[in-house]
Amino acid sequence: MAKQTIKYVCSQCGAVSLKYQGKCFECQSWGTLEETRILPEPKNRKEGAVAFPGTAPVRLHEALPSEGHRHMTGIGELDRVLGGGLMKASAILVGGEPGIGKSTLMLHLAACLSPAKILYISGEESPNQIRERAQRMQVKADNLWLAPETDLEAILAVIEKEQPALVIVDSIQTVHSTQYQSSPGTLTQIRECASLLIRAAKQQNFILFLIGHITKEGTLAGPKTLEHMVDTVLQFEGEGYQRYRIIRSVKNRYGSTNEIGVFRMEENGLEEVSNPSEFFISGRQTDVAGNSILAAIEGSRAILVEVQALVSNTNYSMPQRISTGFDLKRMSIILAVLEKRLQMETWGQDVFVKIAGGLKLIEPAADLAIAAAVSSGLMNRPLEATAACSAEIGLSGELRAISDSERRIREAAHLGFKSIVLPEANTRSLKPSLKKLPIRIAGCRTLQEALTELGI
Ligand code: TYD
Ligand code: MG
Repeated sequence: MAKQTIKYVCSQCGAVSLKYQGKCFECQSWGTLEETRILPEPKNRKEGAVAFPGTAPVRLHEALPSEGHRHMTGIGELDRVLGGGLMKASAILVGGEPGIGKSTLMLHLAACLSPAKILYISGEESPNQIRERAQRMQVKADNLWLAPETDLEAILAVIEKEQPALVIVDSIQTVHSTQYQSSPGTLTQIRECASLLIRAAKQQNFILFLIGHITKEGTLAGPKTLEHMVDTVLQFEGEGYQRYRIIRSVKNRYGSTNEIGVFRMEENGLEEVSNPSEFFISGRQTDVAGNSILAAIEGSRAILVEVQALVSNTNYSMPQRISTGFDLKRMSIILAVLEKRLQMETWGQDVFVKIAGGLKLIEPAADLAIAAAVSSGLMNRPLEATAACSAEIGLSGELRAISDSERRIREAAHLGFKSIVLPEANTRSLKPSLKKLPIRIAGCRTLQEALTELGI
């Protein structure tokens, strides 16, 4: 029997220690080191030798275009986040909270890729449960093969035998290898099992989907290294109890990141929402104070989004600041700018900000919409219903230039908005075709000017 080495791996940061310690020397967390037994490398793998035969280098212009290896799934919103379909032999990590729709999406995918052979490795649900779901969704995927397996060696064997075109592992947290003594779901198990599955995908030329759970903190359970190992990371956003689901590509070696796909969870599974702007502003009430419309950019398209703010007298010594879908620190800065530069005092008020539709806004161009919604809520005055806006706010209360103003203007005009408020710098040299659109483009230098334009 080969001699095993015992190492201690931190489940938080992945640091490796040779002896047990109560506290990780790297990330300083307590009680996170896990005993891990590692078998020695096989004898025939000599020191310095590479595991696979090397590949001859090719000149840049001789490299094959990758587009030829793409396979469209037929689900438009999914193809979009994948950067234009599935790449051969690629590994895709799909993360999201339990119940958000990961398994449902995989069933849709399987049905769309028929007749390609698909192997669904399920460590979470029995084949019966998956069949019931498929019946509910009315999908008939004769090309789908189910394997209720959690043992890595058995999974690799079944892949080798069945030779599928695509493998779905639901979820990677349930897979474990007998080579490592730590229990399933621990960092070592997840990392090592994922690594061997990805290696198999590259060698045997199948597409690999790894489903991963999200922790309470909103990060993928398992090491950050898992994200580095795969080619694409897709993340489900949206609130579980509501019907819409947003899939965002947070990493993509084969396309742009931050691309989003929008779906709606219906009785028979996920339905694509091909016009997200209409969907994100569909439920809005135009005569209520505290609502503004942002012309946002998500990946390669512009989307209009409703921003809501509720400002009410506080009953606490420390007023509440709560934000859903927008960075809380950034919101505090905007409140400070409103207070210092525009004398809009919010210190005695609770401020709640929410991005309708469960979208998470990360671009700085969302600043003005937040400021407008909060000001409107504070003054109890509804904003101009047919105005959209987009601008970054500087600490002196100035509006700073943003990216992609053209697409924002076109989307607002397309949806019938009468005006759009932008930083002045973005409106200096507008294309003649934009000037012909039936929308007034208001360039503003300061937050004060912008709020006046919006009706405050
Ligand atoms: P599921 O795909 O099982 O989530 P995950 O794999 O991410 O844990 O989705 C489960 C939820 O979706 C569950 O709350 C029921 C709901 N659902 C529908 O509303 N309609 C459907 O057709 C299906 C299949 C699920
Ligand atoms: Mg599931």
